[in-house]
Amino acid sequence: MKPAAPRRVLLRALCLACCYLCCAHGLWKSGNHEWKKLIMVHHWPATVCKEVEKDCRDPPDYWTIHGLWADKAEQCNRSWPFNLEEIKDLLQDMKIYWPDVIHSAANRSSFWKHEWEKHGTCVAQLDTLNSQKKYFGEGLDLYRGLALNSVLQKLGIVPSGNYYQIADIKDALAGLYGVTPKIQCLPPEQGEEVQILGQIELCFTKDLQLRNCTEPGEPAGGRHRAGRGRPDRALEVCQDGPVFYPPPP
Ligand SMILES: *[C@@H]1O[C@H](CO)[C@@H](O)[C@H](O)[C@H]1NC(C)=O
Ligand SMILES: *[C@@H]1O[C@H](CO)[C@@H](O)[C@H](O)[C@H]1NC(C)=O
Ligand SMILES: *[C@@H]1O[C@H](CO)[C@@H](O)[C@H](O)[C@H]1NC(C)=O
Repeated sequence: MKPAAPRRVLLRALCLACCYLCCAHGLWKSGNHEWKKLIMVHHWPATVCKEVEKDCRDPPDYWTIHGLWADKAEQCNRSWPFNLEEIKDLLQDMKIYWPDVIHSAANRSSFWKHEWEKHGTCVAQLDTLNSQKKYFGEGLDLYRGLALNSVLQKLGIVPSGNYYQIADIKDALAGLYGVTPKIQCLPPEQGEEVQILGQIELCFTKDLQLRNCTEPGEPAGGRHRAGRGRPDRALEVCQDGPVFYPPPP
């Protein structure tokens, strides 16, 4: 008639401890928007069109901006709505360098709204990026500064029916920028021989200095949902080996 009671107490204590940990974890996930690197995400429009085949027309034949993201944080301020009016001075450049590849037929701004709400509201914790004008303006400036299109061309990495090796692309970019990029691909589907080059990310510190995208020993990361809605296919960190850099259709 003895051990039952202490055991029950112990069990209750354990349960409490578990609940406490779970709650703390939940809070940490939802409430704390800490992040430490900025990610400048470029995507290759011809590949974006393979992700979402239905709704894509005349993709640009140059790398465009997907977004300027914070690692480990999304949707940081739901009471800060997107306002196209604030960035009207930037629209001309945005349409060229930061276009909505998927809905390219229209001049809709829903892509920018999405990027602002999901990523901009987090990045805006920095004084240098704390408005929509600064967020989109800095995104354009970083894109121009990196000049990925001309860098790739200079390195001889151009869209081609011949495959490249991922390591060659990565090393060439790392050599030029002095930091390790992160490269994402569409894994091959039935009928495709190899993965398809989709996205190139370059990372910055909060002071807007280039830095490696991965820490030594840190896994490169897994699947990455491409963005709005549900893409038909999803990008992943590229596997070592051959990669197809598709010419525009
Ligand atoms: C969210 O954005 C609104 C509008 O800019 C601002 O007033 C508020 O301080 C922000 N909240 C946080 C937690 O940053
Ligand atoms: C979209 O097009 C309409 C009509 O052509 C124009 O009035 C509007 O300003 C455009 N919107 C943007 C974001 O460029
Ligand atoms: C960046 O990555 C390169 C290659 O992995 C490494 O040699 C270098 O030490 C890294 N730099 C920092 C600051 O971690």
